[in-house]
Amino acid sequence: MDLLDSPSDAEGPIGVFDSGIGGLTVVAALRELLPAERIFYIGDTARVPYGGKSRRTIERYSVEIAGLLLAEQAKLIVVACNTASALAVPRLKQIFNLPVQGVIDPGAAAAVRASRNGRIGVIGTRATIASRAYEQAIHALAPEAEVFAEACPLLVPLIEEAWFDDEVTGQVLHRYLDPLLAGGIDTLVLGCTHYPLLREAIARVAGPDVTLVDSAHNCALAVEDILRVRGLAAPARQVGSLDVALTDATEGFLRVAEQALELQIGDVKLRAVQAAG
Ligand code: DGL
Repeated sequence: MDLLDSPSDAEGPIGVFDSGIGGLTVVAALRELLPAERIFYIGDTARVPYGGKSRRTIERYSVEIAGLLLAEQAKLIVVACNTASALAVPRLKQIFNLPVQGVIDPGAAAAVRASRNGRIGVIGTRATIASRAYEQAIHALAPEAEVFAEACPLLVPLIEEAWFDDEVTGQVLHRYLDPLLAGGIDTLVLGCTHYPLLREAIARVAGPDVTLVDSAHNCALAVEDILRVRGLAAPARQVGSLDVALTDATEGFLRVAEQALELQIGDVKLRAVQAAG
């Protein structure tokens, strides 16, 4: 068996990764809920986006980044990327001998709790939507729920340009969301780590009768649970911290996210990965 062992030390960091910068929305939720925890975040900016790539490639990238987190003594791996969560979590669990938490199950559970009429919308990247991971997770909890899923590939670039409050973004959102709204959804899962940054614009288009479910906060709650159950929570005396590493020195959107999420990110480290392809 190709199990890789970790020290599983409560003082070790929570390892978090995303295809790029969007996973910092999960980091912000973790920092708020678990202020004593150290967090080591890796954004695979050299190979982002994952959202249009195949399962094989997304698995390969995810395994490589998780290995880098293990080298940082991570006690738990948080897959703060919906695309990698939808396609690579089973492989990561098979390979690494430490808890792996993705964002799909917590988001699906929160959506099922929130929905009153059982009509749930899900938006995400092409790969996330094509995987049907949200549908499966929702149906495992509520077999009678109706899921309306829509791939929204234009949203990530708009968010990375910080076009949060722009007419063009509003039009694109209408194009993607109108069919879901016509289906009568009362709950919408923001199934991509970038989307919480666009929450206000999405809420304006979706209207007051649709509850937005944010996988970031629900994932942080799931992490809190794992740490408690496994006795891995940081000692109360520990002062939490955040280290950020990227696989390519592309900081533009990092500073947008830092500001929007009110995170304090110091010097960014670099980690090498194999070339894309
Ligand atoms: N982080 C990805 C997600 O949450 C979005 C960006 C990408 O396509 O890599 O699905």
